[in-house]
Amino acid sequence: MKIAIGCDHGGYQLKQEVIAYLEKKGYEYKDFGTHSTESCDYPDIAEPVAQGVAQGEFDKGILICGTGIGIGIAANKVKGIRAALCHDAFSAHASREHNDANILTMGQRVIGPGLALEIVDIWLHTEFEGGRHAKRVEKIHKIEEC
Ligand code: RB5
Repeated sequence: MKIAIGCDHGGYQLKQEVIAYLEKKGYEYKDFGTHSTESCDYPDIAEPVAQGVAQGEFDKGILICGTGIGIGIAANKVKGIRAALCHDAFSAHASREHNDANILTMGQRVIGPGLALEIVDIWLHTEFEGGRHAKRVEKIHKIEEC
């Protein structure tokens, strides 16, 4: 599985923790930055990560900012992206099983690294259930054609 990961300054420390987790587990990944806590704009990171996932270069993406909100809103502007903000295990599970989320977003200022890594683990290991959920995901993408 190839993973695209990125953050703004508000998510830098947590991104580094997630990268350490990905390395430990042997995942292939590309770090789209940012590479320090110097202030930057989250859409500049969200867009290349989301494009990489939407174009199939990466299987999944992980985006982190202070809240996980701005970076997720930006990612969801890219056609084919279903970015889900998850700060609990249940949502991480459901966002994959029901929504086939292809980008996980989290907020470094909202949760601690222990819970965040548990969420990443669940999110990467949960499969889309398909069936009635597939019809709903298709309907989401029909909205993109409007
Ligand atoms: C940056 O201060 C902060 O606004 C950003 O990381 C994020 O929380 C936006 O949604």
